[in-house]
Amino acid sequence: MKQKLKTLLSKEKIQKRIAVLGKQITSDYKGKDLVIVCVLKGAFMFCADLIRAIDLPLTVEFFGVQSYGDNTHSSGIVKTTLDVDISLEGKDVLIVEDIVDTGLTVDYLLKHFLSRNPRSLKLCTLLLKPDCIQQEVQVDYCGFKIGKKFVVGYGLDAAQLYRNLKGLSVLT
Ligand code: IMP
Ligand code: MG
Repeated sequence: MKQKLKTLLSKEKIQKRIAVLGKQITSDYKGKDLVIVCVLKGAFMFCADLIRAIDLPLTVEFFGVQSYGDNTHSSGIVKTTLDVDISLEGKDVLIVEDIVDTGLTVDYLLKHFLSRNPRSLKLCTLLLKPDCIQQEVQVDYCGFKIGKKFVVGYGLDAAQLYRNLKGLSVLT
């Protein structure tokens, strides 16, 4: 059966929200040593737009995790596929994620980065599915709260496809 896409968030809506998040982060991180950690692969597009909305000196690192394989349900097993190889000691680390679903991936990320002794550690996610949470995690910046449905586009995939859509759609 062919899968259908239904628009959830247009590119304009996403960009408007990113401008607000960028301003908030700019004001919160003045005078700090900001290191943005982009979580691959899903957050690459969000992160590219978010950092351009932050008016501060910052550096960007990439961290790879795989938690779903090619399924649309969390496997519960999180695997590192690419690590950050610089020291994060004394840095103000902001993790940028695409989506918090069960919370298992972010829980894994926060534990991993806390062990690297940053001065501060916060999380920014584009999307949050509050009804799917299994593991409570602290979300410091959130773009949009959405329902339970599986979403694709704007960097997010289903079996590696749909990442190139300009907005976010629900896969039905
Ligand atoms: P969690 O560990 O269940 O919170 O899942 C987080 C990861 O699963 C995210 O970083 C995404 O890569 C992926 N994911 C969760 N929900 C969706 C979705 O609706 N669409 C695409 N990817 C998703
Ligand atoms: Mg994914």
